[in-house]
Amino acid sequence: MVNHRGSSHNHMRTASTAKFISRKQSPRAIAVYIFLLFAFSIFIFVFNAGNIVEDHPAPVISIQSHPQTKFLQTADDELWDAPSRHGLRPCIKPTSRYKAAHGSDRYLTVKSNGGLNQMRTGISDMVAVAYIMNATLVIPQLDRRSFWQDSSIFSDIFDELHFITTLQGNVRIVRELPKELELVPRARKHFTSWSSMGYYKEMMQLWNDHQVIHVAKSDSRLANNDLPLDIQRLRCRALYHALHFSPPIESLGKKLVDRLRMRSGKYIALHLRYEKDMLAFTGCTSGLTDAESEELRIMRENTKHWKVKDINSTEQRIGGFCPLTPKEVGIFLQAIGYPPSTLIYVASGEIYGGDARLSELMSFFPNLVFKVTWHEQLRGTADS
Ligand SMILES: *[C@@H]1O[C@H](CO)[C@@H](O)[C@H](O)[C@H]1NC(C)=O
Ligand SMILES: *[C@@H]1O[C@H](CO)[C@@H](O)[C@H](O)[C@H]1NC(C)=O
Repeated sequence: MVNHRGSSHNHMRTASTAKFISRKQSPRAIAVYIFLLFAFSIFIFVFNAGNIVEDHPAPVISIQSHPQTKFLQTADDELWDAPSRHGLRPCIKPTSRYKAAHGSDRYLTVKSNGGLNQMRTGISDMVAVAYIMNATLVIPQLDRRSFWQDSSIFSDIFDELHFITTLQGNVRIVRELPKELELVPRARKHFTSWSSMGYYKEMMQLWNDHQVIHVAKSDSRLANNDLPLDIQRLRCRALYHALHFSPPIESLGKKLVDRLRMRSGKYIALHLRYEKDMLAFTGCTSGLTDAESEELRIMRENTKHWKVKDINSTEQRIGGFCPLTPKEVGIFLQAIGYPPSTLIYVASGEIYGGDARLSELMSFFPNLVFKVTWHEQLRGTADS
């Protein structure tokens, strides 16, 4: 009886009711009562089962009635539509408690480190640090020593004036240190990454002896350190509103996007991070030749600021710490459902192993275009 109902809750209620009744009623009446309950439970079960069956067949049937169109339609939406925001929204406006910073005659100079993405978040962190420490921020120097050997300065990459004016009233930002401060001794600091607000407040002691603090690297990693809401919102304003690319980069980017759209409407921009520095840094040599593995090992050995030298490639891979290979990216995108005709813009530097390794991706998606070729084409048209 219990099993037929499939509900222990019903079972308990029935049993206790029966016990209660047994004090007053004859055994026959009890039997009739239990039978009625039993019958009622069966009815409820069948009724619910009917609902369960009815709930689900509708979509199945409608897909089967026009299988191809319906199915592909759904897949296409899922592949190209913006993902759900899950109720999240931008929150960049300061709260009512936010106090605008005033001009300050103490200065923070910064050497931003890492690749472009790392520098962008690092610069936003430094805006927040300057705010916390009540300092004027001098436009950061960009990293020239990284693998990319990019000699660009801030104003080559970012719209400097926009950066300064957008953050007015938050943090005072100046292009250069005032002349009279250029030669005064600076406090030189490597701020500890992942620090809290208290740490930076403590660092304000440095102002007692110095008017300029030089920060040797910008990746303070302030995203998840319990900083007050208004500090996080300031970081967001810096990152998403103040840091715009410089006009020449904006216009080149727009041209690229227009060309890609003209060619196929929709495309994938793939940051295929299968580049020499990444493989050397992570020690991921699975599938590479012995000579390649050795070349990467030597590069790691010789790069001073990479601390970990001895790496077991197999363990890295099993641990999930390796970038996807071009072939794995192909398998992955195919499995998600992108058709082989999909246009893929490979937004990376040189792929390690060159064409041979790229052909493993091309066998899935032959429609690849590359940054280098397209940029040259665009420059060509711009010059002529
Ligand atoms: C910020 O610094 C200025 C001097 O540059 C000072 O007058 C002001 O009191 C400081 N504000 C805070 C909150 O420390
Ligand atoms: C690397 O790790 C794997 C798995 O733990 C192990 O079987 C292998 O012997 C290690 N290789 C070296 C050279 O230590």
